[in-house]
Amino acid sequence: MTLSKFDGIELPASADFHVHLRDGDMMELVVPTIRQGGVNTVYVMPNLVPPITTVEHALSYKTRLQSLEPNVTYLMSLYLHPSITPETIISAKAAGIVGVKSYPAGVTTNSDSGVLDYASFYPVFAEMEKQDMILNLHGECPSHGDITVMSAEERFLPTLLDLHKRFPKLRIVVEHLSTAAAVETVLKCGPTVVGTITAHHLSLIVDNALGDPFCFCKPVAKLVEDRNALLKAATSGNKKFFFGSDSAPHPRGAKRGGDKIAAGVFTQPYATQYVLDAFETGVESGVLREEDVTREVLENFLGRFGREFYGDVARQRGEGKGQVIRLSKGKGKVAEIVQSEKTDVVPFRKGEVTWELEFIS
Ligand code: NCD
Ligand code: ZN
Repeated sequence: MTLSKFDGIELPASADFHVHLRDGDMMELVVPTIRQGGVNTVYVMPNLVPPITTVEHALSYKTRLQSLEPNVTYLMSLYLHPSITPETIISAKAAGIVGVKSYPAGVTTNSDSGVLDYASFYPVFAEMEKQDMILNLHGECPSHGDITVMSAEERFLPTLLDLHKRFPKLRIVVEHLSTAAAVETVLKCGPTVVGTITAHHLSLIVDNALGDPFCFCKPVAKLVEDRNALLKAATSGNKKFFFGSDSAPHPRGAKRGGDKIAAGVFTQPYATQYVLDAFETGVESGVLREEDVTREVLENFLGRFGREFYGDVARQRGEGKGQVIRLSKGKGKVAEIVQSEKTDVVPFRKGEVTWELEFIS
């Protein structure tokens, strides 16, 4: 059986470098699922309503997250917005905020106050470069003219190259890579430019997203060759590629029955498990060879490379609670729904068999 060599494997807890934890009822529901997915370190996205544009908001949000689940390290970010100045960057750095996320205006959930023109942020980027803060890019152009959701990422790549050229020391994470073209461009850039890959983009193609609102996210899943390029990048052993789930919970009603389908796939409770499943399917379909998927590949992609890139703030702390996970093949099952009295969310691949995961120390 494919990847049965990993049945019972013990691994360092995963780090997930792209999560949406929301606020209020949904936050209370999803934060306790972080560790169920084998994760003990998360990089938290700032696209709340209103977005997190001040140090105070980021820190009070962090306190709320910590009180719900103290056994997770939360790395916080700000939302790139006209109100952010070089002075904000200096105080954010001093307060331990790790990075700034840029959303192009209007491309995805809660991006109404996103970026229209990168040039106006050059002084902010220059200060971020100086302070060694990370720029997280949602790498898509808004659909307009001949740009569609299928070409939105590829059409953004010249902007990435331009930013990298102007700010070569600025550490940039291109989030949720979804195309072979983006993988190639990240490879072409210097060591300051890396990319995260989600579990669902390792699994899906556009046909899945079109037929199922629970597989619809931004960037949308693309073509078979794109998905295969992501599988190869994630198992390549190249430090430039590491895991960020982009788990993006929306209440069930926002996925079915609303006027518009909300973009976002909820993967938090099975984050690590889904990655193993995706690699397994990759081997079964002949895209990967079984020997390509080693323990080292898992450890690197699921934690080590991201922790190294993010640096001291993200390093796995020595021995202690929440450091080691064990995975058992075929013994887990994805819930039909995750719910509280106040809200609910449908997980990716509901009802399907997956790996069972437990923290063992
Ligand atoms: C995210 C969300 O719901 O906040 N949605 C998504 O489709 N990925 C926003 C984002 O990361 O684009
Ligand atoms: Zn996201």
